[in-house]
Amino acid sequence: MKKHLIVLLLVFSQLSYSQQIIQPFDYSIQKNFKGKNGAVVSAHPLASQAGLSILKKGGNAVDAAIATQLALAVVYPGAGNIGGGGFMVAHLSNGKNVTIDFREMAPGKASRDMYLNAKGESQLTLSQNGHLASGVPGTIAGIFSSLKYARLPFKILIQPAIDLAEKGFVITVPEARGLNHYKNDFLKYSSKTSAFVKNTQWQKGDTLIQTELANTLKRIRDNGAKGFYEGATAKMIVEEMQKGNGIISYNDLKNYKAKERKPVVFKYKDYTIVTMPLPSSGGVLLPMMMKMIANQPMQDYGFHSVKAVHLMTEVDRLAYADRAKFLGDVDFYKVPVKTLTSDAYIAERMKLYDPEKAGVSTKIGPGEIPHESDETTHLSVYDKDGNAVAITTTLNGGYGSRTVVAGAGFLLNNEMDDFSAKPGVPNMYGAVGGEANAIAPHKRMLSSMTPTIVLKNDKPYLVVGTPGGTTITTSVFQSLVNVLEFNLSLDDAVNKPKFHHQWLPDELVVEENFPEDVLEQLSAMGYTIKKVGGIGRTEAIKIDKGMIEAVGDHRGDDSAAGY
Ligand code: GLY
Repeated sequence: MKKHLIVLLLVFSQLSYSQQIIQPFDYSIQKNFKGKNGAVVSAHPLASQAGLSILKKGGNAVDAAIATQLALAVVYPGAGNIGGGGFMVAHLSNGKNVTIDFREMAPGKASRDMYLNAKGESQLTLSQNGHLASGVPGTIAGIFSSLKYARLPFKILIQPAIDLAEKGFVITVPEARGLNHYKNDFLKYSSKTSAFVKNTQWQKGDTLIQTELANTLKRIRDNGAKGFYEGATAKMIVEEMQKGNGIISYNDLKNYKAKERKPVVFKYKDYTIVTMPLPSSGGVLLPMMMKMIANQPMQDYGFHSVKAVHLMTEVDRLAYADRAKFLGDVDFYKVPVKTLTSDAYIAERMKLYDPEKAGVSTKIGPGEIPHESDETTHLSVYDKDGNAVAITTTLNGGYGSRTVVAGAGFLLNNEMDDFSAKPGVPNMYGAVGGEANAIAPHKRMLSSMTPTIVLKNDKPYLVVGTPGGTTITTSVFQSLVNVLEFNLSLDDAVNKPKFHHQWLPDELVVEENFPEDVLEQLSAMGYTIKKVGGIGRTEAIKIDKGMIEAVGDHRGDDSAAGY
């Protein structure tokens, strides 16, 4: 009896503790955190708080990352997900680096030309909208695959997400805008109306309650991964597919496996960089790009100098030309990773760099050797024991395929568009690809997601990642160079205007507030400049001399939490 009372008191104190921390109707965005014990930064304050509550309960960074990721699936439906996929990169306090690939897979009935019409023209609306656009989701398999590195029982980690879905939470201005913008798509591409659709316009301050999603999360809590990939949830997914033109089957779901892959680890001066291997293109491009600048006088050039922006843009161009030709799922296509990242190849490629003028993509092409809207999302976590976790996860476009699984309350991805539907035809991010990234059953589509951890003296120094489609890798590249070379504060490294070049289209994309005088000089060197509203939403943590600093990107509702 006494024992039961103690257990009850413990449970009660834990519940009231978590309720004190996660206030779904009263929360605020915190862009910066500095402290000594641990930090979480993600695209939504309630998700960051969910992670923080787990750290405070004695969970490690993996526990907190799982809770944050599941909470994002509720409070950030535009990109947070259980119907999508992603990558996890971790550096554990015992020195082990871990990478988990839970990228979506093409369904078994997918075929190379499935998005081409009788004339051989690509029908990108099919790879981008509705049932046929979805790959087999990987997020839940990824979470269960990472659980062996966690400390607390899964039911504690998923509870904040269940509470947020069941009780609801107050939505922000960007969320209201997103839900209103996609209302017609939700109705068009789903067989049944959903919690995301309201008769009137969503307003800041409205409460979003997701009862069906809460029930799906409870099935996952009670049955593990089978609560998603088998049983009632799988039945709802397959039935939703059959009501549209979708092809995901019971077998596709049952056979989906997350994969623990060999991390990409490379040296950059005194730092060790740990990042995600293929099917993350970042695992090839980031080492290439960092090596291409390693011997250049970056510090003399300085942040946002014409010389630095020009050099980094040409590096982007060279690397992305190779992305288009050579990169794809290594389980299906032999990618020459070693050659692409070798010093000899890098030196050869850099011969094409002219310090005086812009390159021309049609003249450059890939090297000689025998492809996103921003609705991906990233979270970074660091705990007091020295574990660091970086997770980037995605539905691909905003609210994915806009297909909500009837009865299950979650959105499916439109990740099939990350394959190359036809060689040379740009996807939603303007990225082109070829044979390496052609569609095949059970193949994983190439991704740009680049969750990355930088080690200094073998201990975590930076934990970084961002959404942004093809701009992801160039954003991570800039965030690293901003800190490691230009000595920018973490806040500036995240928030100062970013730029991007992806070989084709041959344009230098810059954020609207990029310094005009630099742009004028770059134009004079031959660049075609394109201004865009925002590039990525970087979530970064820096650990320096025992102090943990977390920065949530100012471009959205991103928020840091810590203690
Ligand atoms: N769908 C975004 C990416 O994986 O790159």
